[in-house]
Amino acid sequence: MHQSQTMVALQVGFVMLFFVSTYNYCGVEAEFKICDITAFQRLKVDMATLPYCDKKLPYQARAKDLVDRMTLAEKVAQLGDKAIGVGRLNLPGYEWWSEALHGVSDVGPGTRFDQIVPAATNFPTPILTVSSFNETLWNTIGQVVSDEARAMYNLGKAGLTFWSPNINVVRDPRWGRVTETPGEDPYVVGRYAVNYVRGLQDVKGFEKSNDPNSRPLKVAACCKHYAAYDIDKWKGVDRFHFDAKVTERDMVETFVAPFKMCVKDGDVASVMCSFNRINGVPTCADPKLLNQTIRELWNLNGYIVADCDSIEVMVSGHKYLNDTPVEAVGQALKAGLDLDCGKYYPNYATEAVKQGKVTEDNIDTSLRNIFVVLMRLGWFDGSPGGYSRLGRNDICSPAHLELSAEAARQSIVLLKNDKNTLPLNVGNGKPKFAVVGPHAQATKAMLSNYALNTGVACRFSKPNDSIAEYGEVVNAPGCDSVKCASGDQIGQAVQASKQADATFIFVGLDLSREAEGLDRDDLNFPGFQKSLITQISDAATKPVIVVIFAAGCIDIAFIKDHPKVQAIIWAGYPGAEGGHAVADIIFGKYNPAGRLPLTWYPQSYIEEIPMISMPLRPIPESNLPGRTYKFYNGSTIYPFGYGLSYTTFSYAIKSATDLVKLDMGKLQQCKQIQFLDGRKNTQCPGVVVGETNCTQVVNVKVEVTNTGKMDGAHVVFVYSVPPSGIVGAPIKRLAAFKRVFVAAGTSQMVEFMLNACNDFSIVTEDAYEILPSGDHMIIVGNGADAVTAKTSFFFEH
Ligand SMILES: *[C@@H]1O[C@H](CO)[C@@H](O)[C@H](O)[C@H]1NC(C)=O
Ligand SMILES: *[C@@H]1O[C@H](CO)[C@@H](O)[C@H](O)[C@H]1NC(C)=O
Ligand SMILES: *[C@@H]1O[C@H](CO)[C@@H](O)[C@H](O)[C@H]1NC(C)=O
Ligand SMILES: *[C@@H]1O[C@H](CO)[C@@H](O)[C@H](O)[C@H]1NC(C)=O
Ligand SMILES: *[C@@H]1O[C@H](CO)[C@@H](O)[C@H](O)[C@H]1NC(C)=O
Repeated sequence: MHQSQTMVALQVGFVMLFFVSTYNYCGVEAEFKICDITAFQRLKVDMATLPYCDKKLPYQARAKDLVDRMTLAEKVAQLGDKAIGVGRLNLPGYEWWSEALHGVSDVGPGTRFDQIVPAATNFPTPILTVSSFNETLWNTIGQVVSDEARAMYNLGKAGLTFWSPNINVVRDPRWGRVTETPGEDPYVVGRYAVNYVRGLQDVKGFEKSNDPNSRPLKVAACCKHYAAYDIDKWKGVDRFHFDAKVTERDMVETFVAPFKMCVKDGDVASVMCSFNRINGVPTCADPKLLNQTIRELWNLNGYIVADCDSIEVMVSGHKYLNDTPVEAVGQALKAGLDLDCGKYYPNYATEAVKQGKVTEDNIDTSLRNIFVVLMRLGWFDGSPGGYSRLGRNDICSPAHLELSAEAARQSIVLLKNDKNTLPLNVGNGKPKFAVVGPHAQATKAMLSNYALNTGVACRFSKPNDSIAEYGEVVNAPGCDSVKCASGDQIGQAVQASKQADATFIFVGLDLSREAEGLDRDDLNFPGFQKSLITQISDAATKPVIVVIFAAGCIDIAFIKDHPKVQAIIWAGYPGAEGGHAVADIIFGKYNPAGRLPLTWYPQSYIEEIPMISMPLRPIPESNLPGRTYKFYNGSTIYPFGYGLSYTTFSYAIKSATDLVKLDMGKLQQCKQIQFLDGRKNTQCPGVVVGETNCTQVVNVKVEVTNTGKMDGAHVVFVYSVPPSGIVGAPIKRLAAFKRVFVAAGTSQMVEFMLNACNDFSIVTEDAYEILPSGDHMIIVGNGADAVTAKTSFFFEH
């Protein structure tokens, strides 16, 4: 039985007993709270004597009082995701595990759908949504998802703690969980995290607080999986056994950077440690990674949780130090892991205290961390922000479904558009469209993972049905499924195509090819999908448009260069409203502006580099290429940031700060930098960012002109490039981005305020963040139309 059922029972009890302090509004059940006088009267306890229910006290003090009243056995029973509660303290059970990666999901046992609430609004998966490069959109989706989450909580169908988002940087294109992530760039991933987390968590008017531990929360988010976790199952290596060999430099620069942003700028309420080991140590047992970094250095206001059964995995998978379960539990608690998703803490923590593997004080600290979060959520005193009014009508509402479609429209990436075939002009007649391919009738496949176990959505918009709104359709699947194990049906699809004025081929991947626990072995279309596309295209006399549903990249060189494939669209996994979002792009109701958040590598790339190789930089001695646009200089199918529009844009840098003079502290030292030509710089080659007073701003003003005939949004990317000749420097790094709307024939001035230290620094081999002196380059734009400026840095005592 789930704790949520206990909660429902309690809520029903409250409804019957207290209609004065609770209410029933639009079908919303009475609000549950622990500190309810009447509940304590039933227990024959005067609530006024209980400091943990005293609203005048800080949450820390209230949590301490609560924890101090518990026996060791009672304490330990609260340390798993299925917290048991303590009846005599009027503390009910609580299921901590709920998920809301791209909509409220029932993947965690804390959330349930049923006849009353059959589904919640399903948004595109993050790898698509991030492609909008629209921070407002990311934040707005978080707000809508948390409205639905609060509504479900009020209805007794969800908890308040959601273990989303997944902010692991995509290091390798084969990774099965690319769909869940915001892509390969640590800065973009971090900005996505901050916006989505704030959308989920922030209560209006309480975005900041002098006492962060009392800041109310709408729901509690969780940034996961910390850290260097991006291998699921590849050639016999799985995440339960994988020991990631990672340099400190890659940790600082890439793997940990988004988590730091999530905690420091997003003020997230939770971080989840991962299954893997890093350099021998399971992440959930590493005091340096957990307590010393997340809690002490970044000042997490919240709790640290283990990925589900991670502590068990330390024992059974990693066999770390040949620990017994009791020893593993002691180590995790001492490392600063507060809550176990699983049963190891509840089963073994009492014994761990008895054997001296951990102190009861350690457990008290963890419990205070988790109860403060529940207090901030209103679990003790009632919902903040008036959220108790949210109910059934706030789930799957027309406005929410429209935002899901809008997210897909803003994010879909136009990869190819020969002769301006798109937007497709349907003219006055009734055109005939062939709609083929394994995703033509897609429903569940558009949701990808962390969606709805039941496979139900508020509603589905299928590609076929949306295209049918613009013309007559003829169908021929071409393949039974994404696996496309047989070419038997391709002939029918070719025939369908021949009868049509245009052919849409919906192809790609699904959870049978890329998923949690399933990495890819290749970057190709599965089975006969490639034949399907080529045979139709070879025979075609009318436009052929290929639409790809997939998260990771696919080697599509054969259609990129095929003269008869006029247009290619990448639509990620576009969510339940995906069909009409795709049609809106195809028929010109929306001008595409999405940009790839990942490098699209050729198949040959992965043949050069094993998935388990962690370094981002190339290793020439081993012939290993670099990873991501920052370190890979080889050929791509499409580069990071690529994406076309139905109009054209041009840039001009109107002004850029050209000189930055930094005052060094009296005793501040210069730091040496290694140069490719071995040069020794007698001047001050660099300073440590952490030691530098760096308030200066590098201001860049860019004029963006829409030089075409159609209004449209445009994403402006600003990269910084360190002075040339530095060993191990990235090719470039993203320093800022902004999505702007520019009407046809007009210009927009876009201003960027870059921080002189943070946006121009490099990370040295010994993992120092260093700001080099000399000439840095600023690049605005991504491709051939990019423009550049120079800014010089000097350091003075
Ligand atoms: C974590 O660090 C704090 C200091 O900030 C210390 O008081 C605490 O005992 C540490 N927690 C654990 C579990 O080691
Ligand atoms: C595709 O849409 C058309 C128009 O709504 C419909 O007649 C047809 O049955 C659909 N195809 C499939 C395979 O459902
Ligand atoms: C590209 O990177 C490789 C290392 O992977 C290096 O050997 C080569 O010189 C680089 N090429 C260019 C043009 O920078
Ligand atoms: C940092 O620099 C600013 C302006 O350059 C200056 O006003 C401020 O006093 C400096 N702060 C410290 C701590 O040196
Ligand atoms: C960014 O997203 C918001 C929310 O959907 C939308 O109102 C705005 O127009 C978008 N901005 C651009 C430039 O597309």
